[in-house]
Amino acid sequence: MRGFPEGFLWGCATAAYQIEGAPKADGKGPSIWDRFAHTPGHLPEGETGDVACDHYHRFRDDIALMKQLGMQAYRFSLSWARILPLGTGAVNPAGLAFYSDLIDELLAHGIEPMVTLFHWDLPAALDDRGGWLNRDSAQWFADYARVAFEAFDGRVKKWVTLNEPWVVSDGGYLRGTIAPGHKNRFEAPIASHNLMRAHGAAVKLYREIGRHEIGLVVNIEPKYAASNSNADVAASRRAAAYMNEQYLDPALLGSYPPELREVFNGAWPEWDCSDFELIRQPVDFLGVNYYTRSVTRHDDSAWFLKAAPVRQPLATYTETNWEVYPQGLTDTLLWVRQRYGDIPLYITENGAAFFDPPVAEDGRVRDPLRTDYLRKHLLAVREAIAAGVDIRGYLVWSFMDNLEWTLGYAKRFGIVHVNFASQERTPKDSAHWYAKVIASHGESLAESL
Ligand code: BGC
Repeated sequence: MRGFPEGFLWGCATAAYQIEGAPKADGKGPSIWDRFAHTPGHLPEGETGDVACDHYHRFRDDIALMKQLGMQAYRFSLSWARILPLGTGAVNPAGLAFYSDLIDELLAHGIEPMVTLFHWDLPAALDDRGGWLNRDSAQWFADYARVAFEAFDGRVKKWVTLNEPWVVSDGGYLRGTIAPGHKNRFEAPIASHNLMRAHGAAVKLYREIGRHEIGLVVNIEPKYAASNSNADVAASRRAAAYMNEQYLDPALLGSYPPELREVFNGAWPEWDCSDFELIRQPVDFLGVNYYTRSVTRHDDSAWFLKAAPVRQPLATYTETNWEVYPQGLTDTLLWVRQRYGDIPLYITENGAAFFDPPVAEDGRVRDPLRTDYLRKHLLAVREAIAAGVDIRGYLVWSFMDNLEWTLGYAKRFGIVHVNFASQERTPKDSAHWYAKVIASHGESLAESL
């Protein structure tokens, strides 16, 4: 089988609120995540991102460790409210300086930065003005993107507009499980639409002032019908349209999948055609975040999609209750090419939370299930490459254990263990294994575990 192409980038990913801490340092404004986590009852143990991995103060050591493991690329996000404390208007030079130092440190270590502009931590001041429900949000985002492009485009060659707009809309506006915590069927499509307008506005601006590459990152969870019955097939179509196509279709095809009208029923608005011209901007690449699949059946009692997932009795499930299904990653990559054409792809996130034993006396953290997960998914990527899909890199989620949003600190996705009391970092067995994969450009995947 063909291996990984020349220039294929191996790396890891994180996001600002999950690792940085220092929510008030050097003029940073509050984000909706600061507010959400500080509202009692939202996170299981009352956790917040106030300290997280203290990356704001430890980024040089973290980058040195990335280098030691051989990372070639690092995807991280900018905290919008660090740069623009009120979301619009005055720029906070200290916020820009933090990211400037971070980027310099990466480049000095030969690690390529991939910068995500928005990974869910909207400035709280913008939420007060309606957040993603306000049509002005597209312009707010483009204005913020301009500040970032002007400051960093000389050094950053890979930009991402949004991370996983589906999660923002579904969790933040439909189900209320993440910030800003709304539960409203009418709001969700509006938030999604404005997120996509914001994406389009930032890409359009980048074409005027940027010199490198920009793309969108989506989470894709392929849906497989639980049976051949018409009802189950239709349910899995609805689920796929809602989760996977609601964002890629407008961005790449300029329209929404027709199933969404049925999914949202009376809550589906009529859209202005000119919006799609803005949303559909040619992108340089697409980032795919893949964790699991879903086997879906029709369920009349399900309040929203009238669809329900079917648990697979023989499968392994992660600590977040996600089925381990590497074939779904190959299927996803082939599906993206088939539906949207030959766009360069990155796997911008892939990884798993499993129970990790504490650091042993010999200094090791034995996490064989995570290694097995990563190995099988990398083989799945290689299979898609062999089938001709243009895949340019793989970024493991995550570099280190961090705040898993509403699940708090108990769910560990890192290949580096973090002791949250002492802030000590310890590469897990999976990190050492991944370092070998990188050093051999994927050849060592052939070795069984
Ligand atoms: C997000 C990450 C998150 C990971 C694991 C993705 O949805 O982009 O921020 O930690 O999945 O849940």
